[in-house]
Amino acid sequence: MTKEKVLITSALPYVNGLPHLGHLVGCLLPSDIYARFNRLMGNEVLYIGGTDEHGTPSELGAKKEGVDVYDYTTKYHNIHKDIYEKFNLSFDYFGRTSSKENTEITQEIARELFKNGYIEEREVEQVFSVDDNMFLPDRYIVGTCPYCGATNARGDQCESCTKVLDPKDLIDARSAVSGSTNLEVRKTKHLYLKLSKLSDKVRSWVNTRKWNKLTLGIANKWLDEGLSDRCITRDLKWGIPVPTDVFPDMKDKVFYVWFDAPIGYISITKELLGDGYKNWWLNSCGADKVRYVEFMGKDNVPFHSVMFPATLIGANEDYKKVDTLKGLSYLNFNGGKFSKSAHRGIFADSAIEEFPADYWRYWLIKNAPETDDTDFSFERFAEEINKDLNDVLGNFILRVLKFYNSKFGNVLLHNPANTEKEQAVIAELQERVNAYTQYLNDMEFRKAMAELRAIWVLGNTYIDEMAPWSVFKTDSEKSGEILAFAMNLMRIYMVLAKPIMPNVSEKILGTLGTSGDWIFDVKEEMNAISKGHKFEVPETVFSKISSDRVNELNEKYNAKK
Ligand code: MF3
Ligand code: ZN
Repeated sequence: MTKEKVLITSALPYVNGLPHLGHLVGCLLPSDIYARFNRLMGNEVLYIGGTDEHGTPSELGAKKEGVDVYDYTTKYHNIHKDIYEKFNLSFDYFGRTSSKENTEITQEIARELFKNGYIEEREVEQVFSVDDNMFLPDRYIVGTCPYCGATNARGDQCESCTKVLDPKDLIDARSAVSGSTNLEVRKTKHLYLKLSKLSDKVRSWVNTRKWNKLTLGIANKWLDEGLSDRCITRDLKWGIPVPTDVFPDMKDKVFYVWFDAPIGYISITKELLGDGYKNWWLNSCGADKVRYVEFMGKDNVPFHSVMFPATLIGANEDYKKVDTLKGLSYLNFNGGKFSKSAHRGIFADSAIEEFPADYWRYWLIKNAPETDDTDFSFERFAEEINKDLNDVLGNFILRVLKFYNSKFGNVLLHNPANTEKEQAVIAELQERVNAYTQYLNDMEFRKAMAELRAIWVLGNTYIDEMAPWSVFKTDSEKSGEILAFAMNLMRIYMVLAKPIMPNVSEKILGTLGTSGDWIFDVKEEMNAISKGHKFEVPETVFSKISSDRVNELNEKYNAKK
């Protein structure tokens, strides 16, 4: 295989929301598995993540906690970072969009867009709060919803009835900053990204992409509806200042959060590599040979397939743009939404306190919402952990190692069996390993996991049929050979599980006294453990989840409404 340079990004979560299982499975975990897999393929991987920190929610959140916005986002950035480390996400760097690098690159891109005629200053009418002495972004105006009567509707949308609003619709409008009702409509200037003018270029570029139907559908739908120019500035303090060297009238404005957030992928690379970031992001510096894969929740697909590429195309054709997008659907919790405010659902910080990371990683990726939304319940979680991990995989490992150790000790006296039976197992395994590898390569995670489970079942069936425990009574030599074959299967299983369950793999490969990068030729790998090899017997591999425990968890996380 030829080695590639692979750039992998995971959508940057909003810093002020705590991640739940849906965020994990919606982009963080799949991107990590893909990064680990590519490293195992010997590819040169750069895996970038971080927090999306600007915008009104951070400003309002900080106000609520009575702290400075930067301190507020630092606190939550560290919480995200810490949780993701516990889930073993192997980011090469986990950065933030409030960095000086992001300011530099975002301002530079805005200057380039302006120079190329894709940014325009427009005069608009906007609500001004006299008492706060500031223009209010739509979200900073609250009032009574004209449709449902909710008293805390925001200027952009009513959260109670979900109707999209214009601030002028609100009854008894007031400032969310001070509560003042002393509001006036005044003229001010904003920057607009001329997406209409970029539309043809974006469309020709989209046409060169080998995306899946879903992604292409979303991108083309937006392009067909016609891209309208978008306001890319806001009247906030917390954001990237509009550069006044080219926009002298824009002193108190910052860029809209969705403008600077994806540029974060570039600037976070720069945080890590300094000028070396150019090798990944500028085609003239080698990025043309990079394969760039983005992971995100499905609601993020329009921005990543159209808006961000448009920004880059308009700024400078030399920027690297996405090759493959993997968009995932949502994970529900017992048929409903995860909700922090309603204390419903298990969030990532508690999840990791309840069970080891690999349990979650296994279940979530096996049930990844690739085509439709998926439902999490503790019942399903327990059932699959008990069946797949305990009964199939864990049991196989423990039976084989314990029996061998009790009869022959922990230094192998046998080479693996090699009769027609074993050759047939090897042949089937080879096919399944090929399929598993291909599915991971194609980011078809559910299919990959079905193969991996079938691979484990193969070993269990083999050992059940060969029954070394009864063979031992009449032919101890043969029994030892069967067990030695099974130990080699075990090693292969643990190598194949590396991207999915890194901790378990490392632990079991350790007790087996072996390692391995990836399995390509099964036959060649089947003698890694043979005569003279020393191993240990782990006490446990996985633990079962009882129905009492499930009941407790349902209670604790409000599963039953
Ligand atoms: N913060 C956004 C969300 O959580 C995702 C931003 S992706 C980025 O939905 F690329 F723009 F950063
Ligand atoms: Zn309403």
